[in-house]
Amino acid sequence: MNKPLKTLDRVISKAGFGSRTEARSWIGGGRVRVNGKLIRTPDHWVDLEADRVTLDGKPVAARRKIYLLLYKPKGCITTYKDPEGRPTVYGLIPDVEEWVFPVGRLDQDTSGLLILTNDTQFAERMTNPQYKVPKTYLVKTSTRLTEEDLDQLRRGVALSDGPTRPAEVVHLRDSGDKTFFEITITEGRNRQVRRMVEALGCKVLKLVRTAIGPLQIAKLQIGKYRVLTPAELLELTRSATG
Ligand code: URA
Repeated sequence: MNKPLKTLDRVISKAGFGSRTEARSWIGGGRVRVNGKLIRTPDHWVDLEADRVTLDGKPVAARRKIYLLLYKPKGCITTYKDPEGRPTVYGLIPDVEEWVFPVGRLDQDTSGLLILTNDTQFAERMTNPQYKVPKTYLVKTSTRLTEEDLDQLRRGVALSDGPTRPAEVVHLRDSGDKTFFEITITEGRNRQVRRMVEALGCKVLKLVRTAIGPLQIAKLQIGKYRVLTPAELLELTRSATG
């Protein structure tokens, strides 16, 4: 039978420590040993059953996969460290020992649901537009939108990086000169909802991600997280239809 061989960078990344690019830089930086020997080649073959890999002296073993659902507040950013010292989502999960990363991004001024995990394959499936995982946002605009504006969002808007896919839009209400609506998109482009609204000559005053596939905010409190149940995980993966 063939030996279960994998390249060193892949072993570290699959174990949930970080991306392959990060793993390659750690290996190049002399932080990784195989059977006690310093290896600086990311493409070094590793026999998963026989070889012992360490990163900074700690064993790299397949880690438990973990999936968190966080209600990110406005003002918090999704990167690990911020040179400007702004609060990050990591400050909201201080008791989580596993290394996790956000699945996709939410702007600093956007609140709502954010999944954090150490499962790179799952994250790829959730964020790759090919799998069309629907994400729903509650939007408050700076001016009142017409039904024609909302239809435009439904049909798709021309953005600098191409037209957007058709979206589901539910007009919730108008209040004074503001409009509240819900939009469900199946892509996750940078600042997509804000840019779609800006294309109509209007601004987003408030943006909340209220659902990712079948997951709803429900009773989750702002700034809090919970672990996804196996049933939710299954449903979520099923919503990534492709
Ligand atoms: N669309 C945006 O404009 N911002 C987000 O954070 C998410 C979707």
